[in-house]
Amino acid sequence: MALDQAELNKILASGQKAIQDASSLALLNDCRVAYFGKKGHITDLMKQLGSLSPDQKKIAGKQINDIKQALEQSLQDKKIILEQSAGDAALKNNYIDITLPGRQSSVGSLHPITHTKNKICEIFRKLGFAVAEGPEIENEFYNFEALNIGPNHPARAMQDTFYFTNQLLLRTHTSPVQIRYMQEHPAPIKMLAPGRVYRCDFDVTHTPMFHQVEGLLVDKTCTFSDLKYIINLFLSHFFEKDIPTRFRASYFPFTEPSAEVDIQCVQCQGAGCRICKQTGWLEVMGCGMVHPKVLENGGINPEEYTGYAFGMGVERFAMLSYSVDDIRAFYENDVRLLKQFSGV
Ligand code: DAH
Repeated sequence: MALDQAELNKILASGQKAIQDASSLALLNDCRVAYFGKKGHITDLMKQLGSLSPDQKKIAGKQINDIKQALEQSLQDKKIILEQSAGDAALKNNYIDITLPGRQSSVGSLHPITHTKNKICEIFRKLGFAVAEGPEIENEFYNFEALNIGPNHPARAMQDTFYFTNQLLLRTHTSPVQIRYMQEHPAPIKMLAPGRVYRCDFDVTHTPMFHQVEGLLVDKTCTFSDLKYIINLFLSHFFEKDIPTRFRASYFPFTEPSAEVDIQCVQCQGAGCRICKQTGWLEVMGCGMVHPKVLENGGINPEEYTGYAFGMGVERFAMLSYSVDDIRAFYENDVRLLKQFSGV
Protein backbone atom coordinates (compact mmCIF):
# COMPACT_ATOMS: atom_id res chain seq x y z
CA MET A 1 0.00 0.00 0.00
CA ALA A 2 1.36 3.37 -1.01
CA LEU A 3 0.98 6.47 1.09
CA ASP A 4 -1.55 9.02 -0.05
CA GLN A 5 0.44 10.95 -2.66
CA ALA A 6 -1.89 13.95 -2.48
CA GLU A 7 -1.28 14.12 1.26
CA LEU A 8 2.47 13.91 0.71
CA ASN A 9 2.33 16.65 -1.93
CA LYS A 10 0.52 18.86 0.55
CA ILE A 11 3.25 18.33 3.13
CA LEU A 12 5.89 19.07 0.49
CA ALA A 13 4.09 22.22 -0.73
CA SER A 14 3.53 23.63 2.73
CA GLY A 15 7.14 22.82 3.67
CA GLN A 16 8.49 24.58 0.64
CA LYS A 17 6.28 27.60 1.28
CA ALA A 18 7.48 27.82 4.88
CA ILE A 19 11.08 27.58 3.69
CA GLN A 20 10.44 30.23 1.07
CA ASP A 21 8.89 32.55 3.64
CA ALA A 22 11.70 32.14 6.20
CA SER A 23 13.26 35.59 6.40
CA SER A 24 16.22 34.70 8.61
CA LEU A 25 18.58 31.83 9.31
CA ALA A 26 16.88 31.35 12.69
CA LEU A 27 13.41 31.00 11.07
CA LEU A 28 14.86 28.64 8.50
CA ASN A 29 16.17 26.50 11.29
CA ASP A 30 12.67 26.45 12.80
CA CYS A 31 11.45 25.02 9.45
CA ARG A 32 14.10 22.34 9.50
CA VAL A 33 13.03 21.31 13.00
CA ALA A 34 9.36 21.33 11.97
CA TYR A 35 10.07 18.78 9.22
CA PHE A 36 13.18 16.87 10.26
CA GLY A 37 13.19 17.30 14.02
CA LYS A 38 12.14 14.57 16.47
CA LYS A 39 8.50 15.49 16.12
CA GLY A 40 8.78 16.78 12.58
CA HIS A 41 6.45 15.87 9.72
CA ILE A 42 9.01 13.76 7.88
CA THR A 43 9.98 11.99 11.06
CA ASP A 44 6.28 11.19 11.66
CA LEU A 45 6.00 9.71 8.19
CA MET A 46 9.10 7.59 8.77
CA LYS A 47 7.53 6.24 11.93
CA GLN A 48 4.55 5.00 9.91
CA LEU A 49 6.90 2.80 7.86
CA GLY A 50 7.36 0.50 10.83
CA SER A 51 3.84 -0.91 10.50
CA LEU A 52 4.13 -1.71 6.76
CA SER A 53 5.10 -4.97 5.04
CA PRO A 54 8.53 -5.09 3.29
CA ASP A 55 6.96 -4.51 -0.17
CA GLN A 56 4.85 -1.63 1.03
CA LYS A 57 7.82 -0.22 2.88
CA LYS A 58 9.76 -0.09 -0.39
CA ILE A 59 7.16 2.00 -2.18
CA ALA A 60 6.27 4.23 0.74
CA GLY A 61 9.96 4.65 1.60
CA LYS A 62 10.66 5.96 -1.87
CA GLN A 63 7.71 8.36 -1.66
CA ILE A 64 8.95 9.76 1.65
CA ASN A 65 12.49 9.93 0.41
CA ASP A 66 11.45 11.99 -2.61
CA ILE A 67 9.79 14.70 -0.57
CA LYS A 68 12.53 14.48 2.01
CA GLN A 69 15.16 15.16 -0.65
CA ALA A 70 13.08 17.93 -2.22
CA LEU A 71 12.72 19.65 1.17
CA GLU A 72 16.39 19.19 2.02
CA GLN A 73 17.31 20.78 -1.29
CA SER A 74 14.99 23.71 -0.64
CA LEU A 75 16.47 24.17 2.85
CA GLN A 76 19.98 24.11 1.40
CA ASP A 77 19.17 26.63 -1.34
CA LYS A 78 17.44 28.99 1.03
CA LYS A 79 20.28 28.71 3.50
CA ILE A 80 22.76 29.90 0.88
CA ILE A 81 20.55 32.88 0.04
CA LEU A 82 20.03 33.86 3.68
CA GLU A 83 23.72 33.48 4.53
CA GLN A 84 24.60 35.68 1.64
CA SER A 85 22.25 38.45 2.71
CA ALA A 86 23.30 38.13 6.37
CA GLY A 87 26.90 38.61 5.21
CA ASP A 88 25.92 41.61 3.12
CA ALA A 89 24.10 43.15 6.08
CA ALA A 90 27.08 42.59 8.36
CA LEU A 91 29.38 44.24 5.83
CA LYS A 92 27.00 47.13 5.53
CA ASN A 93 26.78 47.63 9.30
CA ASN A 94 30.51 47.37 9.85
CA TYR A 95 31.40 49.55 6.93
CA ILE A 96 34.46 51.66 7.54
CA ASP A 97 34.83 54.78 5.52
CA ILE A 98 38.54 54.72 4.89
CA THR A 99 38.39 58.14 3.28
CA LEU A 100 37.48 59.83 6.60
CA PRO A 101 40.32 61.86 8.12
CA GLY A 102 42.06 60.08 11.02
CA ARG A 103 41.87 61.21 14.64
CA GLN A 104 44.50 63.84 15.26
CA SER A 105 47.05 62.87 17.88
CA SER A 106 48.25 65.84 19.86
CA VAL A 107 51.98 66.24 20.17
CA GLY A 108 53.36 66.88 23.64
CA SER A 109 56.18 69.26 24.44
CA LEU A 110 58.74 69.79 27.15
CA HIS A 111 57.56 71.37 30.37
CA PRO A 112 58.99 74.90 30.77
CA ILE A 113 60.91 73.75 33.85
CA THR A 114 62.47 70.84 31.95
CA HIS A 115 63.30 73.19 29.14
CA THR A 116 64.97 75.66 31.49
CA LYS A 117 66.88 72.88 33.26
CA ASN A 118 68.10 71.56 29.90
CA LYS A 119 69.17 75.03 28.83
CA ILE A 120 71.21 75.51 32.03
CA CYS A 121 72.81 72.07 31.69
CA GLU A 122 73.63 72.61 28.04
CA ILE A 123 75.59 75.80 28.75
CA PHE A 124 77.66 74.08 31.45
CA ARG A 125 78.08 70.95 29.37
CA LYS A 126 79.70 73.09 26.69
CA LEU A 127 82.05 74.41 29.38
CA GLY A 128 83.12 70.84 30.14
CA PHE A 129 80.96 70.04 33.19
CA ALA A 130 79.82 66.40 33.52
CA VAL A 131 76.16 65.96 34.48
CA ALA A 132 75.57 63.76 37.54
CA GLU A 133 72.57 62.68 39.57
CA GLY A 134 71.96 61.65 43.15
CA PRO A 135 69.09 60.16 45.16
CA GLU A 136 66.09 62.29 46.15
CA ILE A 137 65.75 60.32 49.36
CA GLU A 138 68.89 61.21 51.25
CA ASN A 139 70.28 60.65 54.70
CA GLU A 140 71.33 63.28 57.21
CA PHE A 141 75.00 62.70 56.52
CA TYR A 142 74.91 63.67 52.84
CA ASN A 143 72.20 66.31 53.10
CA PHE A 144 73.66 68.09 56.15
CA GLU A 145 76.63 66.72 58.02
CA ALA A 146 79.04 66.21 55.13
CA LEU A 147 78.16 69.71 53.96
CA ASN A 148 79.29 71.14 57.28
CA ILE A 149 75.73 71.81 58.40
CA GLY A 150 75.96 71.02 62.10
CA PRO A 151 73.26 69.26 64.14
CA ASN A 152 71.86 72.54 65.46
CA HIS A 153 71.87 74.42 62.19
CA PRO A 154 68.49 76.09 61.45
CA ALA A 155 68.38 74.43 57.98
CA ARG A 156 67.71 71.15 59.75
CA ALA A 157 64.56 72.44 61.41
CA MET A 158 61.54 70.21 60.94
CA GLN A 159 59.45 72.92 59.26
CA ASP A 160 61.88 72.99 56.31
CA THR A 161 62.83 69.37 55.85
CA PHE A 162 60.53 66.46 55.08
CA TYR A 163 61.79 63.62 57.26
CA PHE A 164 60.91 59.93 56.83
CA THR A 165 62.77 58.84 59.93
CA ASN A 166 65.44 60.42 62.11
CA GLN A 167 67.99 59.60 59.47
CA LEU A 168 66.14 59.55 56.16
CA LEU A 169 64.70 62.63 54.48
CA LEU A 170 63.80 64.18 51.13
CA ARG A 171 66.86 66.12 50.07
CA THR A 172 66.45 69.86 50.63
CA HIS A 173 69.07 70.78 48.02
CA THR A 174 71.24 69.21 45.32
CA SER A 175 74.44 69.93 47.28
CA PRO A 176 74.67 66.32 48.65
CA VAL A 177 75.48 65.21 45.10
CA GLN A 178 78.78 67.13 45.49
CA ILE A 179 79.85 64.78 48.28
CA ARG A 180 78.69 61.62 46.52
CA TYR A 181 80.48 62.68 43.35
CA MET A 182 83.75 63.52 45.14
CA GLN A 183 83.66 60.15 46.89
CA GLU A 184 83.30 58.36 43.58
CA HIS A 185 85.55 60.41 41.30
CA PRO A 186 89.16 61.44 41.77
CA ALA A 187 90.03 65.14 41.49
CA PRO A 188 90.10 67.19 39.30
CA ILE A 189 86.31 67.42 39.19
CA LYS A 190 83.94 69.45 37.06
CA MET A 191 80.36 68.38 37.60
CA LEU A 192 76.81 69.61 37.45
CA ALA A 193 73.92 68.06 39.37
CA PRO A 194 70.40 68.98 38.30
CA GLY A 195 67.42 67.52 40.14
CA ARG A 196 64.35 67.75 42.31
CA VAL A 197 64.55 69.02 45.86
CA TYR A 198 61.92 69.30 48.60
CA ARG A 199 61.10 71.79 51.31
CA CYS A 200 58.03 72.35 53.40
CA ASP A 201 57.12 75.70 51.90
CA PHE A 202 54.26 76.93 49.72
CA ASP A 203 53.53 80.45 48.43
CA VAL A 204 53.94 82.57 45.25
CA THR A 205 57.66 81.89 45.09
CA HIS A 206 57.88 78.47 46.81
CA THR A 207 56.54 75.01 46.07
CA PRO A 208 57.25 71.94 48.25
CA MET A 209 59.04 70.35 45.30
CA PHE A 210 61.28 72.41 43.07
CA HIS A 211 64.44 72.01 41.03
CA GLN A 212 68.01 73.03 41.58
CA VAL A 213 71.20 72.80 39.61
CA GLU A 214 74.37 72.38 41.61
CA GLY A 215 77.84 72.95 40.20
CA LEU A 216 81.20 71.84 41.59
CA LEU A 217 84.73 72.35 40.32
CA VAL A 218 87.75 70.98 42.16
CA ASP A 219 91.27 71.55 40.92
CA LYS A 220 94.77 72.43 42.08
CA THR A 221 94.60 76.05 41.01
CA CYS A 222 91.07 77.22 41.43
CA THR A 223 90.19 80.71 42.59
CA PHE A 224 87.20 82.87 43.37
CA SER A 225 87.86 84.86 40.20
CA ASP A 226 87.50 81.60 38.19
CA LEU A 227 84.14 81.15 39.85
CA LYS A 228 83.11 84.72 39.03
CA TYR A 229 84.18 84.24 35.43
CA ILE A 230 82.19 81.02 34.98
CA ILE A 231 79.06 82.43 36.62
CA ASN A 232 79.17 85.62 34.53
CA LEU A 233 79.72 83.57 31.39
CA PHE A 234 76.81 81.31 32.24
CA LEU A 235 74.42 84.18 33.04
CA SER A 236 75.20 86.05 29.81
CA HIS A 237 74.61 82.85 27.84
CA PHE A 238 71.41 82.02 29.67
CA PHE A 239 69.85 85.48 29.30
CA GLU A 240 71.40 85.81 25.84
CA LYS A 241 72.91 89.24 26.56
CA ASP A 242 75.65 90.75 28.68
CA ILE A 243 73.99 91.13 31.98
CA PRO A 244 75.38 93.17 34.89
CA THR A 245 75.96 91.05 38.00
CA ARG A 246 77.08 91.61 41.56
CA PHE A 247 78.52 89.15 44.05
CA ARG A 248 77.23 89.93 47.52
CA ALA A 249 79.10 88.48 50.49
CA SER A 250 76.96 85.83 52.13
CA TYR A 251 77.15 82.72 54.27
CA PHE A 252 76.74 79.02 53.48
CA PRO A 253 78.17 76.39 55.81
CA PHE A 254 79.65 74.46 52.89
CA THR A 255 81.54 77.34 51.24
CA GLU A 256 84.03 79.90 52.55
CA PRO A 257 84.02 82.62 51.38
CA SER A 258 80.42 82.56 50.12
CA ALA A 259 78.44 84.90 47.94
CA GLU A 260 75.01 85.41 46.56
CA VAL A 261 74.81 86.44 42.94
CA ASP A 262 72.45 89.16 41.80
CA ILE A 263 71.69 90.09 38.22
CA GLN A 264 70.40 93.44 37.09
CA CYS A 265 66.61 93.19 36.97
CA VAL A 266 65.64 91.74 33.58
CA GLN A 267 62.29 93.53 33.81
CA CYS A 268 63.30 97.13 34.49
CA GLN A 269 67.03 97.05 33.62
CA GLY A 270 67.90 98.31 37.07
CA ALA A 271 65.45 101.20 37.27
CA GLY A 272 63.42 99.53 40.03
CA CYS A 273 60.09 97.73 39.62
CA ARG A 274 57.72 95.34 41.37
CA ILE A 275 59.69 92.25 40.33
CA CYS A 276 62.96 93.45 41.90
CA LYS A 277 61.14 95.12 44.79
CA GLN A 278 62.47 98.49 43.60
CA THR A 279 66.10 97.41 44.16
CA GLY A 280 67.05 97.00 40.49
CA TRP A 281 68.65 93.63 41.33
CA LEU A 282 67.48 90.02 41.40
CA GLU A 283 69.13 87.30 43.43
CA VAL A 284 69.69 84.22 41.27
CA MET A 285 72.13 81.87 43.00
CA GLY A 286 74.49 81.07 45.83
CA CYS A 287 78.14 80.20 45.43
CA GLY A 288 81.54 80.13 47.08
CA MET A 289 84.84 78.36 47.57
CA VAL A 290 84.27 74.82 48.84
CA HIS A 291 84.91 74.61 52.60
CA PRO A 292 88.03 72.50 53.37
CA LYS A 293 85.93 70.25 55.63
CA VAL A 294 83.56 69.53 52.73
CA LEU A 295 86.48 68.55 50.48
CA GLU A 296 87.72 66.26 53.25
CA ASN A 297 84.27 64.68 53.60
CA GLY A 298 84.40 64.00 49.89
CA GLY A 299 87.76 62.27 50.32
CA ILE A 300 89.81 65.10 48.78
CA ASN A 301 92.88 66.59 50.43
CA PRO A 302 92.22 70.33 50.99
CA GLU A 303 95.97 70.96 51.24
CA GLU A 304 96.32 69.82 47.67
CA TYR A 305 93.05 70.93 46.07
CA THR A 306 90.64 73.84 46.17
CA GLY A 307 87.20 74.06 44.66
CA TYR A 308 84.27 76.29 43.95
CA ALA A 309 80.58 75.46 44.03
CA PHE A 310 77.34 77.12 43.09
CA GLY A 311 73.66 76.31 43.33
CA MET A 312 70.63 77.81 41.64
CA GLY A 313 66.88 77.29 41.51
CA VAL A 314 65.55 76.26 38.10
CA GLU A 315 62.07 77.69 38.77
CA ARG A 316 63.64 81.08 39.53
CA PHE A 317 65.35 81.12 36.13
CA ALA A 318 62.19 79.92 34.39
CA MET A 319 60.10 82.62 36.07
CA LEU A 320 62.56 85.30 35.02
CA SER A 321 62.96 84.16 31.44
CA TYR A 322 59.24 83.55 30.83
CA SER A 323 57.97 86.45 32.99
CA VAL A 324 55.86 84.14 35.14
CA ASP A 325 55.33 85.73 38.54
CA ASP A 326 53.63 82.86 40.42
CA ILE A 327 55.72 79.69 40.71
CA ARG A 328 52.59 77.61 41.32
CA ALA A 329 51.51 78.21 37.71
CA PHE A 330 54.20 75.71 36.64
CA TYR A 331 52.59 72.92 38.62
CA GLU A 332 48.91 73.40 37.96
CA ASN A 333 49.19 71.50 34.68
CA ASP A 334 46.93 73.94 32.91
CA VAL A 335 47.39 72.97 29.27
CA ARG A 336 46.57 76.52 28.18
CA LEU A 337 49.63 77.77 30.03
CA LEU A 338 51.88 74.85 29.08
CA LYS A 339 50.95 75.21 25.40
CA GLN A 340 52.41 78.70 25.38
CA PHE A 341 55.82 77.13 25.95
CA SER A 342 55.50 74.29 23.48
CA GLY A 343 57.54 76.11 20.86
CA VAL A 344 60.39 77.28 23.09
N1 DAH B 1 72.48 74.50 48.62
C1 DAH B 1 72.12 75.89 48.62
C2 DAH B 1 70.62 76.04 48.83
O1 DAH B 1 69.92 75.11 48.64
C3 DAH B 1 72.50 76.54 47.33
C4 DAH B 1 73.98 76.69 47.22
C5 DAH B 1 74.60 77.80 47.70
C6 DAH B 1 74.73 75.70 46.63
C7 DAH B 1 75.95 77.98 47.61
C8 DAH B 1 76.11 75.83 46.54
C9 DAH B 1 76.71 77.00 47.03
O2 DAH B 1 76.88 74.92 46.00
O3 DAH B 1 78.05 77.15 46.94
O4 DAH B 1 70.17 77.10 49.14
